[in-house]
Amino acid sequence: MQVSLIASGLNSWSGSVLVFGVLEGNLEEQLHPLEEVVKGPLIKNLNQQNFIGKAGESINFQLLEPPIQKLVLVGLGKPEKLLLEGFRNAAALGAQSSIGNDGTLGIVLPWNIFDCMSAAKAVAEATRLSLFKDTRFLSKPEELKIPKRIDLIGLPESAKTILQEVNPICAGVELARELVGAPPNSLTPQDLANTAIQIAKEKNLEVTVLEKGECEARKMGAYLAVAKGSDLDPKFIHLIYRPKGTVKKRLALVGKGLTFDSGGYNLKVGSSQIDLMKFDMGGSAVVIGAAKAIGEIRPEEIEVHFIVASCENMINGSAVHPGDIVQASNGKTIEINNTDAEGRLTLADALVYTCELKPDAIVDLATLTGACVIALGDEIAGFWTDNNQLAEELQNAANNAGEGLWRMPIQETYKKGLKSMLADIKNTGPRAGGSITAALFLKEFVTESIPWAHIDIAGPVWAEKTNGLNPAGATGYGVRTIVNWICNQKT
Ligand code: BES
Ligand code: MG
Ligand code: ZN
Repeated sequence: MQVSLIASGLNSWSGSVLVFGVLEGNLEEQLHPLEEVVKGPLIKNLNQQNFIGKAGESINFQLLEPPIQKLVLVGLGKPEKLLLEGFRNAAALGAQSSIGNDGTLGIVLPWNIFDCMSAAKAVAEATRLSLFKDTRFLSKPEELKIPKRIDLIGLPESAKTILQEVNPICAGVELARELVGAPPNSLTPQDLANTAIQIAKEKNLEVTVLEKGECEARKMGAYLAVAKGSDLDPKFIHLIYRPKGTVKKRLALVGKGLTFDSGGYNLKVGSSQIDLMKFDMGGSAVVIGAAKAIGEIRPEEIEVHFIVASCENMINGSAVHPGDIVQASNGKTIEINNTDAEGRLTLADALVYTCELKPDAIVDLATLTGACVIALGDEIAGFWTDNNQLAEELQNAANNAGEGLWRMPIQETYKKGLKSMLADIKNTGPRAGGSITAALFLKEFVTESIPWAHIDIAGPVWAEKTNGLNPAGATGYGVRTIVNWICNQKT
């Protein structure tokens, strides 16, 4: 489903569902442009139904005049209170009313309230992403009747350039949702690697998949310890986007790629949501989704590395024991006092590998800790970095995407919680501040001179309920933030 821009306005548009945003206030004036397309006493009808343009309000009209079959008025609330998020919500709400129609969906909003690029991007993303539905696992998927095209009507021609980013970004988010939503028996480390290889082919990226033997040769003892308890081999994935011409910046993304996390011998029991732990590859889904988007957008002068150390955390006779001591590829020894803190073990070796590439910045994304969910809930990811510039860049990128992101402290004094009696470090500290000690653990595997940020997406990777913009289930959280961050780099 592609999003296009119709600069010429409503009069020359033809499509089947029209979503029209209305601010609280003078309805008559705002509805003026509709006179040409809608016949009949619209205002009288609205008054009868008490529609005043409040945020969250919507009203549908079935029209008899072809080609427009349906008009959906969506309230935007008071203009002085309207934020870009209000545009997103209104677009998503309007889009829901288009379900059942497979023609073209047109959207008219008072665009000039915001700068037109941001408005176009926000509305295009919200509309397309709110119409996503995953029917892959139904034996008889009902035919999905949703619009084939989305037209943003009445925006200036100049906003067209932004759509060259929006469509690839949405495709990246959709891929991430499919990867996260796929059950662990259909998305294994091998399947994740196959997806990366497929994207490399489609988008002309370089790809390497390191097999278990190669990871052994690189002495990735932390990552391999996690993989030992599974019948499935680990797959270490490395995709590279190289721009045409000169390279001025080299960025690296690292994603946690546990296609299932049983907890290992520290088995997930009780309310620890073992049945949801297919989403433990959410970080890798962001990384691979972003690779797809970046491979399509092809930003200039920036090289991007996409890295995933994928495996399963399972139990068998050769699984890691609680108490085992292993050695990561930078030589550090780790006492595994909890086999359920496996993500940081896989990331340790992935980060060492990434630092050897000497990138200008590294961002890792991981469904790392339940503690982060307790701290920030399921709409906000936490992030940690010592680098204020990187922090600002990521915060702006997330704000721009409408994705919740909050900076957390790297409290160095908490490192004492990771002290081991025997090894250099242990993999878990006390329960309190668990997402902070996790970040401190990762930091042990990052070269100090390289700007690095860690994003814990354990909360927003998954939504129990729909919130309009996101359908329930896999959200694809992070792809928009990360692609914005890459595309807005100053070189
Ligand atoms: N994948 C989990 C983190 C997680 C938990 C994500 C709940 C989303 C919801 C991670 O591997 C894990 O199990 N972390 C442990 C760490 C603990 C043993 C220190 C946790 O958060 O309980
Ligand atoms: Mg775990
Ligand atoms: Zn995990």
